[in-house]
Amino acid sequence: MTVASPPRIAVLPSDVADQIAAGEVVERPASVVKELIENAIDAGARAIDVAIEDGGRQTIRVSDDGTGMTRDDAVLALERHATSKIRSARDLVGVRSFGFRGEALAAICSVSELELETAPDDGAGTVVRAAGGRVIDVDATSRRRGTTVRAARLFYNAPARLKFLRGARSEWRAILDVVATMALTRRDVRISLSHDGKSILSLPASATPRERLAAIYGGPFAERLLDVDDVSGTTHVAGLVERPSDAGTATRRVFLSVNGRAVRDAGLARAAETAYRSTIPAGVRPTLFLDVVVAADSVDVNVHPAKAEVRFRDRWTVERAIETAVRRALGTFEAGATFGRRVWPTHAPLAEPSPEAASRLDSIPAPPPTADGLFNEATNAPPDPSTSPPVHPSTAPSDVPPLFQLHRTYIAFEHEHGVVLIDQHSAHERVLFEQFMGALARGEHPAQRLLFPMTLHLGPAESEAFEQNRAAFEQLGFEIEGFGGHTLIVRAVPMPHPRFDPERCLRDTLATITGDRGASEHSRHERLAATVACKAAIKAGDALSPAEQRALYAALRDTTLPAHDVHGRATIVQLTWDEIDRRFGRH
Ligand SMILES: Nc1ncnc2c1ncn2[C@@H]1O[C@H](COP(=O)(O)OP(=O)(O)OP(=O)(O)O)[C@@H](O)[C@H]1O
Ligand SMILES: [Mg+2]
Repeated sequence: MTVASPPRIAVLPSDVADQIAAGEVVERPASVVKELIENAIDAGARAIDVAIEDGGRQTIRVSDDGTGMTRDDAVLALERHATSKIRSARDLVGVRSFGFRGEALAAICSVSELELETAPDDGAGTVVRAAGGRVIDVDATSRRRGTTVRAARLFYNAPARLKFLRGARSEWRAILDVVATMALTRRDVRISLSHDGKSILSLPASATPRERLAAIYGGPFAERLLDVDDVSGTTHVAGLVERPSDAGTATRRVFLSVNGRAVRDAGLARAAETAYRSTIPAGVRPTLFLDVVVAADSVDVNVHPAKAEVRFRDRWTVERAIETAVRRALGTFEAGATFGRRVWPTHAPLAEPSPEAASRLDSIPAPPPTADGLFNEATNAPPDPSTSPPVHPSTAPSDVPPLFQLHRTYIAFEHEHGVVLIDQHSAHERVLFEQFMGALARGEHPAQRLLFPMTLHLGPAESEAFEQNRAAFEQLGFEIEGFGGHTLIVRAVPMPHPRFDPERCLRDTLATITGDRGASEHSRHERLAATVACKAAIKAGDALSPAEQRALYAALRDTTLPAHDVHGRATIVQLTWDEIDRRFGRH
């Protein structure tokens, strides 16, 4: 007879099971914000106020003016699988509300200290206080119709999860993203957001996607987008997309909704990108804001714990509808685009600065350039920005060989060993990088005043990135003052060449360095200088005058590392006479 071993399997206590389930719904503070806003919208709120402290690690408070709850419902709402939104599995088909699982409040409650204050129309309010999934007390209170949920000390009782929380800044960025996404999803609802008592977003209920985008990211950004609005079969695709000539910057944003639910869906995004094929270089990806509406029974929304993904009955048809809609929107822009990998497509002449940009520029000083030796690698002296010429001097360096611009991309010249090609963009990037690093090291401000100061509206993340690097921007030559909220007034800019678009450069740079944290000041400066240099440099496709070609040649020669750009790629390529002779069969 064998002795039975003790059972190895046990059913977990319910509070442990709840905590595990909560992990799927509540990953970080931003997930709490998302669930609470969704609940407010499901309750028919017209106005939602979100207040965050310490990146949501201390407190998250979401107030709405929706239907509210009775005392009994308020207590039930914190239970798992308690929902007013569906009654049977059948109701899941074509469900219109964000919520349907009855999980969210229970999940949040199981890992925080929660206070739920709510009142239905009659104003008989209730406060429920709970912690770690257990109700502590229930009181009557008076308040206007609506609900306020306050979740404090998230993960206080789940140390393993607490460890995975990022810094306040990082969690805050994720929250901003969630709120912006919800605000784009439901443009009819007024939404405000504050952080540590400071108002960050105040979005009026607005009618059009463009208006809401403008309220979140700034008018100039929204104005440049193209309208999409197209129906294929039963699929309706509407929204706004980036012009091909604007795409490819680091400011890329993607928002997709399916039947009013924001989703992450690489397949749908790819379908929209396919429409840009041949108008933008491979690897460059456009900004997209698209609402897709399909027949309710052709999509399953219950496939992802945070409802961030959906499943289509016929994905191919939906993707083709998106591609067609975006392609139609691009319409004439596509026709004018240049084909080819290196040449930037555009619908405007490449070589001329815009009249607006030109009028902004006061005067452009042209320090006389210095010159010695041909790409002398031994020139290891640090660059001196006061003698490094811009690319447009009035006096040409004297000891420069005859130069030719090829393919509006390369500068070619001959020397005793062969033919040399300079990549004009990479070369200029290197020159500017060293100038900027010099300026940062010396605390200089090589600024050019703008005739007409430029107003810049930034998204919250960008304005944060600016605040963090304000001093460095000034040393690079930007003279900028805050103007309340997310508006900046730019009074002076560095002026590397007449085609320089300071606004674009500033925006792209802020977008790129958004999220830079920690790191030493030196490496932050290096990254900033490299980014500004890359954005400010002349591009492939820019026609350069002979004087500009000579100035670039001389400036590159004077850098400490003339042969490599800031990404480590070659700036110059040499074809030796030997090689050329061999190709012609002379050897
Ligand atoms: N802000 C609110 N105003 C009015 N009622 C609310 C609010 N928040 C929650 N409720 C009620 O509490 C119930 C439980 O909310 P909870 O978010 O946990 O589940 P759900 O929204 O039904 O489903 P899901 O878990 O998918 O979000 C809801 O069904 C709703 O009846
Ligand atoms: Mg919910």
